[in-house]
Amino acid sequence: MKRLLPLLTGLVLLLSACGREDLSTLNPQGPVAEKQLDLMKLSIGIMALVVVVVFAICIYVLIRFRRRSGDKSIPKQVEGNHTLEIIWTVIPLVLLLILGVPTIKDVFGLAKDYSKDKNAVQVRVTAHQYWWEFEYTGYGIKTAQELVVPTDKTISFELVGADVKHSFWIPAIGGKMDTNPGVTNRMYLEFPKEGVFRGKCAELCGPSHALMDFKAKAVSPASFDRWVAAMKAPAVMPADAEIAEKFTSQCLTCHAVGENGGNSAPNLTGVGSRQTIGGILYNDTTSVEKNIHDWVTDPQKYKSGAMMPKAVENDLTQEQVSAIAKYLAEYKLDY
Ligand code: CUA
Repeated sequence: MKRLLPLLTGLVLLLSACGREDLSTLNPQGPVAEKQLDLMKLSIGIMALVVVVVFAICIYVLIRFRRRSGDKSIPKQVEGNHTLEIIWTVIPLVLLLILGVPTIKDVFGLAKDYSKDKNAVQVRVTAHQYWWEFEYTGYGIKTAQELVVPTDKTISFELVGADVKHSFWIPAIGGKMDTNPGVTNRMYLEFPKEGVFRGKCAELCGPSHALMDFKAKAVSPASFDRWVAAMKAPAVMPADAEIAEKFTSQCLTCHAVGENGGNSAPNLTGVGSRQTIGGILYNDTTSVEKNIHDWVTDPQKYKSGAMMPKAVENDLTQEQVSAIAKYLAEYKLDY
């Protein structure tokens, strides 16, 4: 134990240092996660009660009725005892009812479909290896890696997978639910508190599964409206004509800014104001510009299996990478 203690302490420190935003379901920040935690508490409570009572009886019986030296008598036989059989049938039945009724009520309650609700914000989530696409179908907006939501509305999610099976999970807010290719799953979440919440892919999907992070940013209704307007504003292109042309020919074939570009890679509109690059390079520890520069230079260095080619394979010189990184870092949205 003495040798294990430093190891355990280290492990606890390591695990607690992992999360910037809380990844724990034990600290819920919204009604869905609260209900889910209540169910966890209820089931763990009942299980703990059963364990304590059964072990207490077991230990008591072992000591009280143990075989004493010289005692050769056969204990009283109780098989077929009706009273005992009724007791040990009814107790589990009652416990299962206490567990089952709220569980069924909440499971069906949390499955409520808001996809036709005019007051809900409809978001279509597409999980890709290894990034997240968020399409606001009611607003005609697409973004990636950072889900922006208002605090006053229910968010109705439509979940699909682009390639393999992933799973959409924001531990502090609620979830999770699989994103399958070709099948649409639905769930809803609510974000009553402003803040940034960390999301994760919760289904092993390839070498960079553990790095498939995203952010959910809950903002005030007015701020959300400003974000929508900023996202819909005409795209800002690089000022330098040569860089603009290079950016269009090498980046916008897959990525998009505003209305310009493709759909197969993360939308970059306002990427400079996101918290991370690639979901994992934090812009507060290194500058946005450096993170974009590093990422564009060699994406596989940070996310093994990422589809994006290295800068050299993409026919970009270091000067062009620097200019594009500078342009993207300065492409911020005010909201
Ligand atoms: Cu996507 Cu794990």
